[in-house]
Parts: sequence; structure tokens; C-alpha cells
Amino acid sequence: MNTDLKIYIPNETTSNSVGANDLYQKISSLKDIDKVKIIRNGSWGAFWLEPFIEVEKDGQRIGASFKGTDISHCITIDDFMIEFENKSPFDIRDIEFIKKQKRIVFSRIGLGDPLDLSLYQENGGYHSLRNALNLDQQSIINKIKESGLTGRGGAAFPTGIKLQTVYDQDSSIKYLACNADEGDGGTFSDRLIMESDPFALIEGMTIAAYAVGASKGFIYLRSEYPLAKDYLTKAISIAKENNLLGNGILSKEFDFDIDLRIGAGSYVCGEETAMMESIEGRRGLVRSKPPLPAINGLFDKPTLINNVVTLATIPPLLNGSLTEFSNIGSGKSIGTMPFQLCGNISQSGLVETEFDISIGEMIETFGKKTKSGRPIHAIQIGGPLGLYLSSNMMSTKLTIESLQSIKGSVGHGGIVIFDDTVDMSEQAKFAMEFCSKESCGKCTPCRIGSIRGIEIIDRLQENKSSTKDIGLLKDLCETMEATSLCAMGGMTPNPIYSIINHFPGELTEE
Ligand SMILES: Cc1cc2nc3c(=O)[nH]c(=O)nc-3n(C[C@H](O)[C@H](O)[C@H](O)COP(=O)(O)O)c2cc1C
Ligand code: SF4
Repeated sequence: MNTDLKIYIPNETTSNSVGANDLYQKISSLKDIDKVKIIRNGSWGAFWLEPFIEVEKDGQRIGASFKGTDISHCITIDDFMIEFENKSPFDIRDIEFIKKQKRIVFSRIGLGDPLDLSLYQENGGYHSLRNALNLDQQSIINKIKESGLTGRGGAAFPTGIKLQTVYDQDSSIKYLACNADEGDGGTFSDRLIMESDPFALIEGMTIAAYAVGASKGFIYLRSEYPLAKDYLTKAISIAKENNLLGNGILSKEFDFDIDLRIGAGSYVCGEETAMMESIEGRRGLVRSKPPLPAINGLFDKPTLINNVVTLATIPPLLNGSLTEFSNIGSGKSIGTMPFQLCGNISQSGLVETEFDISIGEMIETFGKKTKSGRPIHAIQIGGPLGLYLSSNMMSTKLTIESLQSIKGSVGHGGIVIFDDTVDMSEQAKFAMEFCSKESCGKCTPCRIGSIRGIEIIDRLQENKSSTKDIGLLKDLCETMEATSLCAMGGMTPNPIYSIINHFPGELTEE
């Protein structure tokens, strides 16, 4: 085998769902394939191009989308050429979709085999842990505070303050729980890290654990991510073999280990207290706060709970990117955010960029137009509890502050596009249906309110101008918002308010 000749075929959930695994099988049986090294890399996040297959020869890497392509006509191994029908191969890093991003956290995804520890280290990996273990815990926490990083799981809570709270607790046992439940429809940034750059998460968890004094970590992973489970299991074991997890990490007096916990398909188990119940082996019921998990969390011990992206952002902050990161943006919207473009959009995928970009610029630069070719009618931002923007709100900025000011949230960065065939009254009903199905059932406004909400919207679909039902819906939304125990019931009204306010006449005639 000539190891200078390489073919990269992604092994990542989205790529596999559109044929990457099949192509791998076919390419593996091509004549003379033994002359070439096949690498199953992660995805670059330009999902609209998947399966995107690349070749590397003499250090030059080029590729093309093999969507619906019969590879037997496209790859000639002899002279190591890829023939594309009506297309020329290109370096994916040169396309606008990738070049215009600010990739700090996702800088390595797509590069190579996600389990290649040497490749990870050649590209900056584990420098931060080495640096961190030579610092005192408070200095690490200070750097994270200084960075301005806020949680990427949804609530945008300042990460440094959370670390400080756990660190300040006087307890010989502390835990770290990584929230990898990623339940929002249209989001996949956690999955992309776990499948395409799993050491980034493991390194981030290890640094955070060292900083707060935790010796045991859990990754709470949704059951719908079997490939991520596979990658994480292997990456944890490789990290242990290389003294990067376990006892005496990097020969220092620091022990830390990670266990995987697999969820069972419940959205509310992404809420941090329900997640703790689930990790402890019980049904995912939300717990009342206080106490905060940072003070009394898993197994009654102080627990640091952070999202996958939040934790994977920590290594770059201790490895030279602190200033670059903290100089981007202002207020709570500091650093980069991995937005996830999907729904009816021609260029779907992961876009790591500043928050200070309008939804119009996001679509113009990255997503382009709808896949159907029809006009955009609505854009939902921040998952199923997020608000809908209408097509005349394209100047709305994607900052945490801007969306909060119109009763929305960036959430986990999901952006779902709908064309003008969407029925907004159905979307309003979906918000209540989603809540009724996913409610943990602990409090009445959410458990019962969502069912009453479905009934009211059903009636409004028959008669949009019923002042009685419009009033009832508004009262119900106010009650859910004000009295639900957690954000599941508390934020369900947000998409509904946005439909009433920004899509006049589509749910209510008012
Ligand atoms: C109903 C509900 C579902 C949630 N789902 C998730 C999830 O899937 N992943 C996540 O990281 N956070 C989720 N959160 C937010 C978590 O409760 C918590 O704020 C987050 O994991 C903290 O991490 P961060 O500070 O790094 O963002 C959810 C919250 C609610 C109310
Ligand atoms: S708001 Fe819903 S999910 Fe949250 S505690 Fe109440 S019933 Fe459970």
C-alpha cells in the first residue's frame, strides 16, 4: 500500500444516512484498492454535500459530493484520479460555506479518523490539558470566566461562574455530568463533536474536572446516537491506555474517569435535574431548585453540569485561542456559536460563527435558498421551545440579547427553515403536542395545560376569530409561562406567542 494515497470516506450519522457506508463498501471492493489507504473521517459539517469523498495525494486534498453517484464510473485507482460527471473536485476548505465560518471549537472536524490520537495531538489536542495540569485550579477557572463563555446547552449561563460554584463547595467527592441529550429537533452540534472529534469533549471534561475537583464524570448520551456511543466508548478507552484518563493522569496526582449513561428517548431528560434522576437510575422527573446541582447534585454531591459544546470549547481557551474567542462579540454573546441550519434549506449543516450575525446574513451566506425553491415563510430558532421569525424579520440578530428581547432564545443554536407551504396553526399546535408528549408530568400547568392548549388550537383552526378562544389561549400561555416548574412548560408558549405576533391571521384573526 502506498500510504501517501488516501481516500477519505466519512463515518458520521448524517453522511451514513445518505449513503457514505454504502460507498465505503463499494470503494473497499474496487480493483487495486489495496494501493490506497482508506480513512473513515468525520464530516466537515457541510451536510448538503454528503457523502463528500476526498482523495489525498502529495499532500493535496480534493473531493466532491458523491450524492447519488455510481462510484464504479467515478474512481480510477490506477492513475489515482477521481472522475466526476460534470464536476471538478475541489478542496472543501475553499468553499464559502467553510471559509466564512470562524471555526475555533470545530476546527478539527472532518480532518481525519476521529480516533487517531496522534492526529488530534498534532492539531493542538491535549496541549491544553498539559497546560492546565501545571496551573492551579483557580487560575483555570479565572481564564474561563475571562473568556466570557456561556453555556451552549440552552440556558446560556456563564460557565466560569458555574465552575467557581462547584470548586467552592467543601466536599471530597464531586461529579461532572456532560449533557449529551441533544433533544432539540434540528440540532446536531453535540453529535458532530462526539462522532468527529470525541477527544475534544474528553479533554474538555478532564480539564473542567481538574478545575473543580471532580474525580468522576458521566456523559449522558441520547439513545438515538449509537455511532456517537461507539466513538465515545473507543475514545475513552484510548485515552485510558494513554494515561489521559484514569489514575495519575499525565503522571500528575489527578484521577478522573468517565462513564457513559444512555438515555431512553425522553426530551425532558435533557433538563439538568431530570438528567440527574435518570443517571441515578430513576424516571426522569424534574427536581425543584434550589438546591442547585453545583451545590447538591448527583448522588447529593456538588456536580458540574455542562453541555458537550460548552465542554469542548474549554481546550481552545487554554491553548492560545482565549483572546481570539473573547474578542468576538459582546454581552452574553461572546465567542463563537455552532449554529445548525436545517429544514427546508439547500445548504444545510454546521456553521460556527459569531452570534452577531443576522438571520438574513446567515441564510444568504451559508444556507442560500430553500430546497423547494419556494419563498421562506418562517424560521424557528432555538429548538421546539424557540420562537418563529417571519420572512420580514431577516435583520434580527442571532445574539442571545436580541432573541431574548423578542421572547426567544438562541437555545442550542438550531435554525429550522420553512417555506410558504407551512401551516403556522399546525406549528402552534405542534408546540402544545410536543409539550404534552414530553412533559415529565410533575406540574399541572405543563401536564394539563398542554392538552387544553391542543384543544383550544383545534377550535381556533375551525374559527380563527373566536375571541373567547383567543383570550383563553393567551391566558393559558401566561399561566404556563408563570407557573410551570421548569422551562419545558415555561417556554412552550414562546413559539405560540411568536405565531400570534409575527404571523397575523394565521392562527388567530386579531
Ligand atoms: C426541557 C429541557 C430540555 C433540555 N435539553 C437539553 C439538552 O438536550 N442538552 C443540553 O445540554 N441542555 C439541555 N437543557 C438545558 C440544561 O438543563 C442545562 O441548562 C445545560 O445542560 C447546562 O449546560 P450548559 O451550561 O453548558 O449549557 C434542557 C433544558 C430543558 C428545560
Ligand atoms: S414544566 Fe413540565 S417538564 Fe417541567 S416539571 Fe413541570 S411537568 Fe415536568
